[in-house]
Amino acid sequence: MERHLITSAIPYINGIKHLGNLVGSQLPADLYARYLRAKGHEVLFLCATDEHGTPAELAAAKAGKPVAEYCAEMHSVQAELARGFRLSFDHFGRSSSPQNHALTQHFAGKLADAGLIEEVSEKQVYSNTDKRFLPDRYIEGTCPNCGYDKARGDQCENCTKQLDPTDLIEPRSAVSGSTDLEVRETRHLYLRQSVLKDQLDAWIDSKSDWPVLTTSIAKKWLHDGNGLQDRGITRDLDWGIPVRKGKDAWPGMEGKVFYVWFDAPIEYIACASEWAEANGQDDASAQRWWRTDQGAEDVTYTQFMGKDNVPFHTLSFPATILGSGEPWKLVDQLKSFNYLNYDGGQFSTSQGRGIFMDQALELLPADYWRWWLLSHAPESSDSEFTWENFQVSVNKDLADVLGNFVSRITKFCRSKFGAEVPEGGTYGAEEEALIQSLRQRFKSYEEHLEAIEVRKSAQELRAIWASGNEYLQTVAPWTTIKSDPEKAAMQTRLGLNLALLFADLSAPFLPDASKTISAAFGNQENAWPEDVALSLETLAPGHKFDVPEVLFAKISDEQTEEWKAKFSGQ
Ligand code: 2FM
Ligand code: ZN
Repeated sequence: MERHLITSAIPYINGIKHLGNLVGSQLPADLYARYLRAKGHEVLFLCATDEHGTPAELAAAKAGKPVAEYCAEMHSVQAELARGFRLSFDHFGRSSSPQNHALTQHFAGKLADAGLIEEVSEKQVYSNTDKRFLPDRYIEGTCPNCGYDKARGDQCENCTKQLDPTDLIEPRSAVSGSTDLEVRETRHLYLRQSVLKDQLDAWIDSKSDWPVLTTSIAKKWLHDGNGLQDRGITRDLDWGIPVRKGKDAWPGMEGKVFYVWFDAPIEYIACASEWAEANGQDDASAQRWWRTDQGAEDVTYTQFMGKDNVPFHTLSFPATILGSGEPWKLVDQLKSFNYLNYDGGQFSTSQGRGIFMDQALELLPADYWRWWLLSHAPESSDSEFTWENFQVSVNKDLADVLGNFVSRITKFCRSKFGAEVPEGGTYGAEEEALIQSLRQRFKSYEEHLEAIEVRKSAQELRAIWASGNEYLQTVAPWTTIKSDPEKAAMQTRLGLNLALLFADLSAPFLPDASKTISAAFGNQENAWPEDVALSLETLAPGHKFDVPEVLFAKISDEQTEEWKAKFSGQ
């Protein structure tokens, strides 16, 4: 049995995520976690909300709520939606947890002890009206690069250039709109990543199995321009993890907090402690996943994220871990995704363009979305959601292929043989050929899942369903029964077993449909097949079953039109 630690990039707390966010990390991570569990491996799958930083503070202010209260509420909302999409986290934590406070401060202390933290006096924009510094998104203005007039202090949304608040032209406070700003001196901590450059470089080089897309992003940050830059890890904000050196105060850093990107990845570790606590276990059971001196040496750690998160996961977080000098687990496999666009443009939270997780579940059950999103995951390039494509995918793959197969074979059997698996007959050439081809497909399905090739896995699964339909179409038990009832019984029995096999193989993609099918066969213990031929004998003659309810309803042209208009953001 292998041990797999899986984390999904932790979503910002400020609002409900759209489907592009979902398919960029949480959903494929869930697919992988479900697959590995089905294979019998030990899995710890963690995610959390990313609750610090200016996005959280600004969203809370907009909602007119104290930030702690806002975060607690939004955490529940996001947790509920995660359950709705059947995301099978072992724990959905919070980066504002006491565990993350302590651990973030611990790492800062270790880094300071190792001489990897430098205090720097720098110039920051201060608002006289708001009586505060305006870091990151607290300040807006015109982008010096493209002229966009709503650029934020950390980045221009229009041209994606990373900015410093002091770069903005005609800056104004995002809180009050005030332009009564001045530049003041303030002291901050910098993580001396540059010192760790060679160590990081060697570590990246050791990852020969990583996709070039990933290593090239890391290499670019390591070598472009002046090489890896030191990074500010503190902010003049109220909300966040107070700057401390382990348990001790940090003179000169009073009133400051750690930068959100410093504490967010540390939450991956803290989340395991939250998980242990939530399950009444002591912290050793968390460390068993994270500390290579406490049992984690045989753990394979896989991270999922959008491409914009890659530098933080290949360099900044590893710098924190390596710099600490402590034996924490480093990432083994890193799966990153491109962007999902929406119907000819981008998803936009501010314009209400695109579908958000809550809206999606109001329209249709989770499996419909899981299937479309995973089978169109933006792996090798950006991909695009269109309603037409979604309709075709649901109607053809889910309703016509999988749904129809299950309904056809169960209904046929009930009407001709009664609601139990029929007896008699032995396999002929068609059956042997089907089993051969299923063996082959099953093998490559597993290989694709193993390699986290999400789209290819979906294609193979669809092909597996389709081969069931083709078999039924070719042997036509409804015709056979007229001349050779024994043979028709064998074909039908095989068909019923195929339906159950499809349920088991589909479970990582379609957990609900898989359960519905298994339930119709009396809740067979969902077992991942060892051997296709063997698992096609699971349902023995005489086994009772029900005809399951309709698995997937087709989407009509009217619905497609209506939804398209509704979510266009106009
Ligand atoms: O980009 C994002 O949505 C971030 N909240 C991801 C953080 S991942 C990690 F570092 F915790
Ligand atoms: Zn710009």
